[in-house]
Amino acid sequence: MGRLVFERNCAICHGALGDGRGMAGMMVRTKPRDFHPGIFKFRSTPTGSLPTDDDLFQTVSRGLRGTGMIAQDDLPESERRAVVLYVKTFSERFRSEKPQSPIVIPEAPPRTPELVSKGRETYQKAECFKCHGVGGRGDGPSAESMKDTWGYPIQPTDLSRPLKRGSTPEAIYRTIVTGLDGTPMPSYEGALRDEELWALAFYVASLNTGILSERQRREEAAGQMVLRMHGGRGGGMMPRMPMMRDMCMM
Ligand code: HEC
Ligand code: HEC
Repeated sequence: MGRLVFERNCAICHGALGDGRGMAGMMVRTKPRDFHPGIFKFRSTPTGSLPTDDDLFQTVSRGLRGTGMIAQDDLPESERRAVVLYVKTFSERFRSEKPQSPIVIPEAPPRTPELVSKGRETYQKAECFKCHGVGGRGDGPSAESMKDTWGYPIQPTDLSRPLKRGSTPEAIYRTIVTGLDGTPMPSYEGALRDEELWALAFYVASLNTGILSERQRREEAAGQMVLRMHGGRGGGMMPRMPMMRDMCMM
């Protein structure tokens, strides 16, 4: 079943072979993932580890905000679970390694103005500004000409916009402790104390406006369109390819 679900709902972007070379990839600037290296950004596990099945399930269900990877929570849960198992077959890593245990996230302290301003200090101290900029707009001094593991250009996130993993303090906390493997975003596990991590998470959340940038809006719209025109959601992809080419963003 996983294979069928993948071919209907994922291959158009990720490629039938899971190499990220599906034909709809040209419509989005943030490229669909090549699953072969087995490197994943959005994990609950420590940096360098494989993700858990549940991490992958969350990504499929929740989507990644502001990218073509839109939420597919309209698929039955059994299909989402099955497609996760199928995605894992593309990488050798899942045959030879097990994911490490998820990093336990302690309960959040109450959000106070003091905590948020401590977060602002921690943002300076931990040098987040070097990449994300003093105001969090993704324009820090190290932001130029970065590449990700898959060879594509990548920019530090503009923290005032909706975040891929979601913009809650919990999601931000998780990103800071796990890092985003395959990108320059490091893990701060062990480098910052719990209280500093929560302060930082609340501060970063406070920068968020919840309003998509024009680029993010276009990426999500392209993702929606691909799913509407393709496979499980109406079929008839091929004849419409020329129109898709007109919409190509690169
Ligand atoms: C319209 C294109 C599109 C479709 C359809 C699509 N994806 Fe994606 N997917 C993406 C993009 C783009 C990314 C990369 C996002 C990023 O790196 O920020 C991605 C990333 C991922 C990741 C990696 C997340 C991580 O932690 O690094 C997984 C897993 C994934 N997709 C699974 C799926 C599955 C399973 C399906 C089908 C149910 C699917 N995708 C359908 C575009 C798509
Ligand atoms: C060396 C550069 C670098 C440093 C230092 C850095 N980041 Fe990042 N960060 C990145 C990049 C690049 C991304 C974009 C990853 C992506 O979109 O795939 C990112 C993404 C993020 C995200 C968005 C995750 C999402 O769900 O979209 C958050 C939140 C974040 N960083 C917080 C921080 C905080 C807080 C610090 C300091 C403790 C920090 N970063 C330090 C480079 C950096």
